[in-house]
Amino acid sequence: MKGSTKIQPQDVIAPIDRRIYGSFIEQLGRAVYTGVYQPGHPAADEDGFRTDVINAVKELNVPLIRYPGGNFLSQYRWEDGIGPKDQRPTRLDLAWREIETNQFGLHEFMKWADKVNAVPNMAVNLGTRGIQEAADLVEYCNFPKGTYLSDLRRQNGAEQPFAIKTWCLGNEMDGPWEIGAKTASEYAHLANETAKAMRRVDDSLELVACGSSSMDNPTFGEWEETVLDECYDNVDYLSLHRYYGYYNDDDPTELDNFLGKNLDLDAFIKGVVAMCDAVKARKRSTKTINLSFDEWNVWYHSNDADTKVEPWQVGPHLLEDVYNFEDALLVGSLLMTLLRNADRVKIACLAQLVNVIAPIMTDTDGGVWKQSIFFPFMQVANYGQGKVLVDHSQSATYNSREFKDIPYLDTVTTYDEASQTLTVFAENKHQTDTLDFDLDLTDFTVDHVIDATQFYGYDVKADNRDGKMQLQPLAVNASGHQAAVTLQPLSWNVLRFAVK
Ligand code: AHR
Repeated sequence: MKGSTKIQPQDVIAPIDRRIYGSFIEQLGRAVYTGVYQPGHPAADEDGFRTDVINAVKELNVPLIRYPGGNFLSQYRWEDGIGPKDQRPTRLDLAWREIETNQFGLHEFMKWADKVNAVPNMAVNLGTRGIQEAADLVEYCNFPKGTYLSDLRRQNGAEQPFAIKTWCLGNEMDGPWEIGAKTASEYAHLANETAKAMRRVDDSLELVACGSSSMDNPTFGEWEETVLDECYDNVDYLSLHRYYGYYNDDDPTELDNFLGKNLDLDAFIKGVVAMCDAVKARKRSTKTINLSFDEWNVWYHSNDADTKVEPWQVGPHLLEDVYNFEDALLVGSLLMTLLRNADRVKIACLAQLVNVIAPIMTDTDGGVWKQSIFFPFMQVANYGQGKVLVDHSQSATYNSREFKDIPYLDTVTTYDEASQTLTVFAENKHQTDTLDFDLDLTDFTVDHVIDATQFYGYDVKADNRDGKMQLQPLAVNASGHQAAVTLQPLSWNVLRFAVK
């Protein structure tokens, strides 16, 4: 099979906001307890943070981390997680039916985020709480000093304000499962009033309003329009959440369908952009609302196991999906889709980061291991820099159970002017055929190939619990304005060119 692309320097989709390589830590399962935080573990540092986890997160180069939830957020009292640890209350977490000891809270998260070189994407509880508690949290975090709450922060060890810029106004407030779920108009009013109060404390904040928690929710569409109608002037982003499952292991054609799910992600993004812009036009506004895709991933492997987990434990084994090779292929495709929509998606969070539907797993009595999805995420987050270029690729397409015209060749190119590096991400979705990929680099001239890797050859159901998965070298022919490479069946590939 053949495929091609034309890479033109002037054809820019958008500069990449690196926050699209964000991730998410929720106080859920073993994300925090025995994940990020495990005092007494041989790898724990003076703060009880696992340094093996810190090192793995740094490899992913995650610039922003959403916290503390997720569903956990919607009944969380942020004050429980500050002050001397021996005075913090142990509470019931009604979202996940766990015991929350609050030994890890706001200050611990801020310190940990700093150690992994990430900034927070902080969320305020609009399920059981509201305007006052949110404004109080902003004051506690961002007000310099001289008030009760800012001085309390200083007393608790943080002399300087945390200066948290990005904030989520609640989580999945349209979801019937959410504690304190709201109708669209109830949420719109509360989010708008909360945004106003938070901005009175600190007018430099960037605020994210909840969009639909899934495109499948019956209120999708109506929710977005109602929320934006009321909040348009006081928020900057609208959120999207989307998780993908695998519906029929016994059907050999299901893999083709699974690998096409990035088309669904693309349609979701474009639909929400259209709704944001429709409200903009109706309001005759000059302001554009961008998107924060603050939860996305594959999530289905742990569903059955989770129903058997006993409630009211500290750090139970919940949502511990073990990802296989086909999941890594879809994650690569989803990342490329986010990049192709970088003109409107400015923040995105792989949900989640450690132990809970995560690229990084820990053994409580051992080390960390990397899931299959770690590899494409690491490569895109590290190498997808600068600007995203318009995709002019061509290849044969196929139809699947849910999707039409899925290109076998899925590719996107980024160009980093500062380092004069052109990076091409490319996936061959064909199950049996290689794909001869010709790249016309037009005005770019290849100086040399920095490196080229392929991720392939694994059984689609194989996972990386044995730590054997690895990226392999890929042979590329490149000179002048041309490059050519053969993409193996079911492979994820990354080519990096130094260009002139
Ligand atoms: O990421 C796991 C859960 O998925 C989050 O808590 C929730 O927001 C979503 O439904």
